[in-house]
Amino acid sequence: MGVVVAVDGPAGSGKSSVSREAAVRLGYAFLDTGAAYRALAWAVLRAGLDPESTHDVEAVLDGFALHSADDPAERWVRVGDVDVTEAIRAPEVSAAVSGVARVPAVRSTLNDGFRARLAAASPGVVVEGRDITTVVAPDADVRVLLTARPEVRAARRARELPDQDHGKVAAAIAERDARDSRVVDFLEAAEGVTTLDSSDLDFDGTVEALVALVRRAP
Ligand code: C5P
Repeated sequence: MGVVVAVDGPAGSGKSSVSREAAVRLGYAFLDTGAAYRALAWAVLRAGLDPESTHDVEAVLDGFALHSADDPAERWVRVGDVDVTEAIRAPEVSAAVSGVARVPAVRSTLNDGFRARLAAASPGVVVEGRDITTVVAPDADVRVLLTARPEVRAARRARELPDQDHGKVAAAIAERDARDSRVVDFLEAAEGVTTLDSSDLDFDGTVEALVALVRRAP
C-alpha cells in the first residue's frame, strides 16, 4: 500500500477541491468518497425511489456499479455507463444524500470499495470524506480535519452556486452537517488527527498547508 492521506471535514470546508489539488501536487491518486454517496443518492432518485426508505436504498445498493477517476486531474464519475459527474452536484441530490448515507449497509459496502481503492494506490492517495480518519482509514499515514468557520463555508458555497439564495445555501449546509454528524462525528478532530482551519487561508495557502503536512510526516 502507498502513502494514505485522509482528509475529513464538513460541507463547504473546501476539502474536495483542496484535497484534489494536493493530490496533483503530490503526484498521488485522489478519492472523493462523498461522490460515491452522491452517486447512490442520484441512482435512488433516478429509479423514482425514496432516499429516506432503507428498503428502497438497499434495493438500489444491490447491483450499484460505481466507477470514478483515480487521476486527480480527471473528474468523471459514472454509474454503470451513465456519466453523473455534474448530476451528482445538483441541489436535489445534496438534499437526498444524508438519507442514503445513514443506512448501515450503504456505509459498509461503500467502505469496502474505498479500502480496496486505497490498497491499490501507488505511490499514494489523498482520500476525503467524513469518516476517513476514523473509520475508513484510521491507520492512514496523514490524518487531517479540514475546517472553516460556518460563515466562511456558507460564503464559499454561495460563490460556487451564484444563482441560489445565500441564506438558503447556508441553511442547507447547516442542515446537512447536522444530519451527517448524527451518523459520523466529523466536527471534532479524533485523537491523532491534525486540524487545519482554512478560514483565514486562500485556496493555494490551504493546499500548501496540506502538502506540507504530508511532506513533514514521518
Ligand atoms: O463531501 P460531500 O459534500 O460531497 O458529501 C456528500 C454526502 O455524502 C455528505 O453530506 C454525507 O451525507 C455523505 N458522506 C458520508 N461519508 C463520507 C463522505 C460523504 O456520509 N465519507
